[in-house]
Amino acid sequence: MSEIVRVLKTFVAYLKRPDLYPELGRKIIKNTVNRGNAFKGKEKTNSWAASKAVSQQEAVSRLFGIDIAPFRSQYQEILKNSEQKEKECPIKMGGPGALELIYYACEFTNAQHVIETGVAYGWSSLAALLSLEKRNGTLYSSDMPYLAQDGDQYVGYVVPENLKKFWKLFRFADKESLPKIFAENSTFDVLHYDSDKSYNGRMWAYEEVYKRMKKGGVFISDDIGDNSAYQDFCEKNNIETTVVEYEGKYIGVFVK
Ligand SMILES: C[S@@+](CC[C@H](N)C(=O)[O-])C[C@H]1O[C@@H](n2cnc3c(N)ncnc32)[C@H](O)[C@@H]1O
Repeated sequence: MSEIVRVLKTFVAYLKRPDLYPELGRKIIKNTVNRGNAFKGKEKTNSWAASKAVSQQEAVSRLFGIDIAPFRSQYQEILKNSEQKEKECPIKMGGPGALELIYYACEFTNAQHVIETGVAYGWSSLAALLSLEKRNGTLYSSDMPYLAQDGDQYVGYVVPENLKKFWKLFRFADKESLPKIFAENSTFDVLHYDSDKSYNGRMWAYEEVYKRMKKGGVFISDDIGDNSAYQDFCEKNNIETTVVEYEGKYIGVFVK
C-alpha cells in the first residue's frame, strides 16, 4: 500500500468513527506543527539507557528476586497456540515484548488491577492475564483500533477465550480510554505502557497513571529510547529506574 493510500484510508476510517475525532485532531497536530515531538531528547536518552541497561533476566532477578526461566516451560502450550494464532492473523501488528517482565511484575505485586496501553495482538495482555487469572484480578487495556488495515476485530487476537473474563478492553485513544478506566478503578498494581510513543503523549499518561499506582507497584514502559520522556519523567520525580535492553530496544521499569 502506498503511503498516500494508507494515509487516506486511515483518514476515511477516522471520519466514520466520531468517538475517535479528538484523536484525529491530536494526530493532525502531532504530524504537522509538533513533528519534532516524537524524537525530542532521543540522543541523550539513548546514551543514558545504554549506560544503565541490563538483561530482562537480570532486571527481574534484581527487582523481584524471581528467576524468569519457568515462564516459558510452564506456559509452553498456551504460547505455542498464541504464536499459531498470530501466524493466521490476516493483519500484521507488533510482535511479543518482554513477556516475563510483565508476568513476573504481576506475580511480584500479587496484582489485582493491572493497566496497559497498547494491545495489538495482545501479547502483553496475555502475559498479565496469565498471572491475574490466579487471583481473579482484572486487566484494563487501552488500544486504538488499527484503522488503516481494517484491523479492529484482531486487537487482542492471541488472547485465549478463557482469559477474556479477566479483561476489560477500552477501544479508544488513551486520552479517552484512561479517564474511562480510572472511573472504573482508581488504583493499580502494575502498568505496562506501550501505546502513544510521542514525548507529550507519554508524559501525560505517565503522570496520570503514576499517581494512581500503589506503593510497591511496578511501572513498566516500552521503547523508552524513542525520546527522553521516560528519562525526564524519572528525573523529575526522583525515581531510580532500571533499564532493560530487549531485542534492540530499551524498556524502563521501576517499583514505586
Ligand atoms: C507496539 S503495539 C502494542 C503491543 C502490545 N503491547 C504487545 O505486547 O503485544 C502499540 C499499540 O498501541 C496502539 N496505540 C497507538 N497510539 C495509541 C493511542 N494514542 N491510544 C491508544 N492506543 C494507541 C496501537 O493501536 C497499537 O496497537
